Amino acid sequence: MSYDISKAWYEKRRLSDADFRKLSLFITSNYGIKLPPVKKVMVEGRLQKRLKVTGIETFDDYLEFVFSTAGKSELLEMIDAISTNKTDFFRESSHFDFMMNHLLPEFSKSGNRMNIWSAASSSGEEIYSLAIVMEEFNSSQRNKINYNILGTDISIDILKKAVNAVYAHERIKDLPIPLRNKYFLRSKDRNVNQVRVIPELRSKVHFKRVNLMDADYDVESDYDIIFCRNVLIYFDKETQESVINKLCRKLKVGGYFFLGHSESIIGKNVPLKQLEPTIYKRV
Ligand SMILES: C[S@@+](CC[C@H](N)C(=O)[O-])C[C@H]1O[C@@H](n2cnc3c(N)ncnc32)[C@H](O)[C@@H]1O
Repeated sequence: MSYDISKAWYEKRRLSDADFRKLSLFITSNYGIKLPPVKKVMVEGRLQKRLKVTGIETFDDYLEFVFSTAGKSELLEMIDAISTNKTDFFRESSHFDFMMNHLLPEFSKSGNRMNIWSAASSSGEEIYSLAIVMEEFNSSQRNKINYNILGTDISIDILKKAVNAVYAHERIKDLPIPLRNKYFLRSKDRNVNQVRVIPELRSKVHFKRVNLMDADYDVESDYDIIFCRNVLIYFDKETQESVINKLCRKLKVGGYFFLGHSESIIGKNVPLKQLEPTIYKRV
């Protein structure tokens, strides 16, 4: 008998298949993120933490709260908990090499103002890598490119981290020492193993929340470069095509578009021409 009671108690604290289906449908239609049944364990684990923070005992009650008007801010926390924010400085470094060796030399022949957008920028490493490339390129030029970088993401928490620009020292250990010394400040307290991006670089970038599932994006409409890397993999094929088309409306004709290494435009009706794998030009 007591076994049955504790079993029932335990069951109530699990995410049921029906609740997972409801949640998965909601997340996919509002945020594009695919949540097939194999993701149930991952989602359950991540949401356990939200249950603890909110003091809500069961998933049933938690979901009821999240879908209510009172649960609006918890909804954002839930999206934060579910989305995957993995990123790195100079992740997929061939993109930054392409910028340095081809894109920027070509661009600087005719332009001196550049608008760059990273459309799923996560905690900022991608944005600051772009800013470092721009600074390094400019340091070798007489006519410098005046640039502006926007980072957007769906997760408020992750955007706060990006604005703060404080990282564990470990995160920059693979960068060449001259870049580390030039663009990062060590914590004054030697017991704190953290670095912060220098203010000069931080002042060149800004961040805002944009959901790629929105019908239109509240950003400028004349980007020279758009990075949209390692986020489309979470969306289904139709959503990927629709997101790329919406991003292309914000990209100048002749502007450059970058996808993540396991993403491509194959089979999609989008106004892009491939220059190299995962690097495209707006036509
Ligand atoms: C794996 S990270 C990729 C970060 C970076 N672009 C990179 O390649 O290193 C994916 C990011 O996409 C964001 N994301 C997921 N769904 C989104 C959506 N519907 N709109 C905007 N950003 C989204 C997540 O919050 C996460 O920070």
